[in-house]
Amino acid sequence: MMLVAGGLWAVAAGCFAADSQANEAGRKAEQTACVACHSLRLIDSQRLSAAAWGKEMDKMVGWGATVPDRQILLDYLTSEYSDAKPVPNPAISVGHR
Ligand code: HEC
Repeated sequence: MMLVAGGLWAVAAGCFAADSQANEAGRKAEQTACVACHSLRLIDSQRLSAAAWGKEMDKMVGWGATVPDRQILLDYLTSEYSDAKPVPNPAISVGHR
């Protein structure tokens, strides 16, 4: 168990480049701004274009979401949950509920 944890830490530390810092900021923004009303799975199971994510965020803000930095979150959602990525396996969604 210690070995596994140590290995993961090494991988995480190795990936700590500028790019993953932006990603980390986006992930935190999502966890701060988007969990008040529904689970993150509702977001993470989507596959949308940048324009569609923009509209989605505006809709959520209209419903009361507070987004401190729109661009960071938009970049994160667009890169992580892009319509160019395959939709996650439904069996996994069920398991994580
Ligand atoms: C004020 C409450 C609230 C907050 C905060 C919120 N949402 Fe939502 N969101 C909703 C509601 C209500 C639905 C509709 C849920 C349903 O259909 O079961 C929804 C649904 C969604 C959906 C599914 C597609 C859709 O439009 O129905 C996505 C994607 C989504 N939200 C993204 C986000 C993101 C990204 C954030 C953070 C910026 C966020 N939400 C924060 C209320 C909120």
